[in-house]
Amino acid sequence: MIEIPLVDLRAQHEQVADEVADGWAEVLKTTAFINGPQVARFESEFAAYQEVPHAIGVGNGTDAIELALRALGVGHGDEVVLPANTFIATAEAVARCGAAPVLVDCTDDTLLIDVDQVASVTTSRTKAVVPVHLYGQAAPVELLHGLPVVEDAAQAQGARRNGVAVGGLGVAAATSFYPGKNLGAYGDGGAVLTTSDAIAESVKLLREHGSPRKYEHPVLGFNSRLDTVQAVVLSAKLRRLEGWNQARRAAARRYTDLLASVERVRTPVVLGGNLPVWHLYVVRVPDRDRVLSRLHAAGIGAGVHYPTPLHRTGAFAHLDGSFPIAETSAAELLSLPLFPEITESQQTRVVEALAEALR
Ligand SMILES: Cc1ncc(COP(=O)(O)O)c(C=O)c1O
Repeated sequence: MIEIPLVDLRAQHEQVADEVADGWAEVLKTTAFINGPQVARFESEFAAYQEVPHAIGVGNGTDAIELALRALGVGHGDEVVLPANTFIATAEAVARCGAAPVLVDCTDDTLLIDVDQVASVTTSRTKAVVPVHLYGQAAPVELLHGLPVVEDAAQAQGARRNGVAVGGLGVAAATSFYPGKNLGAYGDGGAVLTTSDAIAESVKLLREHGSPRKYEHPVLGFNSRLDTVQAVVLSAKLRRLEGWNQARRAAARRYTDLLASVERVRTPVVLGGNLPVWHLYVVRVPDRDRVLSRLHAAGIGAGVHYPTPLHRTGAFAHLDGSFPIAETSAAELLSLPLFPEITESQQTRVVEALAEALR
């Protein structure tokens, strides 16, 4: 039985339970399940938190990437550059626009996109790059010159790079409110963040059947809205997010201290200029699969993010190329339990079990 989970959503829910119940009672009373006033309220709170003028709620994080790219004009025949080591959604969103995903490797220390490789794959068809703020730390977006940047900020709500909040590092950013995210809903949800009025207007049209007004559809759109009940949850959680992210930072520091004396473990590296939010605490170990099953047997809910680089999945097997760091690291990655409420004694147990598994 898993005694220390990878994430503990129940502990988080207990803190917002009353607010969510009151908010949902209001939604049930008014029955404004779609486009209720709570959605616009959350959007403006979230935009303020991420320090950008626009946050547009959508159905999920994958849609957020797709709609941001479409708002930028990405479509058939275009190419979009992204890292080989990310959740499959980053590439799915590109492919769903009709564009071709073009992969680059990551750097060995941070596992963030290797920005130095982007220039070598850029062609006249390249319309954008989607750096992924993996595990909660920002990619060095300022080193990507000449291409529009759509940040994949699904794992990085509240993270900063050189003092600037993610979401404002490129022309647009996409985030996910999947329940296990730092800011998680009670179902699917996502948002596009942008400093551009034109992109914001375009995403608003696209998410709502291409419709500025009822029964007017000047463009082909989608049905991708953030539900009112999710907006209630997200507003309640957003008020606590900064504290939760600080608690994650303290827990990450504690892991790094505890693991200093454990041999054969590579602890995560934070890129200079970054203030991470530790969506995941990912170490690298030899013989990972054996270590993982020994941790599970010891009741520790460790995970792997992600076991298969994109070009090794069936869906994207046609994206050939050499991505040696993504491939080598995929066999070593191990995510340790991390959530704001994790206790010192839980972390000590995780580290003891890991040391034992590595013996
Ligand atoms: C890096 C990354 N990109 C995109 C997504 C897609 O978000 P969603 O599951 O809300 O579609 C996720 C999370 O699932 C993610 O971790």
